[in-house]
Amino acid sequence: MEIPQIINFKHTNSEKGLLAFAENSIKLPFELQRVYWITQVSDDVVRGGHAHYTSMQVIVCVRGSVEVQLEDMTGQRFDFTLSDPTQGLYIPKLCWGAMKFKNDALLVGLASDLYQEKDYIRDRAVFDALQRKYKHV
Ligand code: TYD
Repeated sequence: MEIPQIINFKHTNSEKGLLAFAENSIKLPFELQRVYWITQVSDDVVRGGHAHYTSMQVIVCVRGSVEVQLEDMTGQRFDFTLSDPTQGLYIPKLCWGAMKFKNDALLVGLASDLYQEKDYIRDRAVFDALQRKYKHV
């Protein structure tokens, strides 16, 4: 699965509230190694601004909303607004991403790898060079 896409999680919703869940190999397209969460982000902040060499992620906005812009190795761009806690956005490796948080958003990230700074591509010029290489293969 190399294209960013929405995953619909199983959930129960009743007068008692909403419960959604994700399990390895069932809804997650990788073995889960790490969970992180991000909140208290001001509306004027843009997070992200990087890609990963190998790590894949599924991000879930469990409160508020998050606008996500992605660009893959072919230069194709994808825009998503996440505001449904029963949905996750699958982000493949080698996708440049940027995120804006709205309405006191709470974002949970599920990742395929342990945290390793060397897996990050933070320099846009490095990403551009990889795109050029990819397009000419
Ligand atoms: P980063 O992934 O750059 O945040 P964002 O893409 O949301 O802007 O991470 C910010 C900092 O937090 C960076 O110094 C690395 C650290 N970090 C960890 O130590 N472990 C993690 O699992 C994550 C996601 C980040």
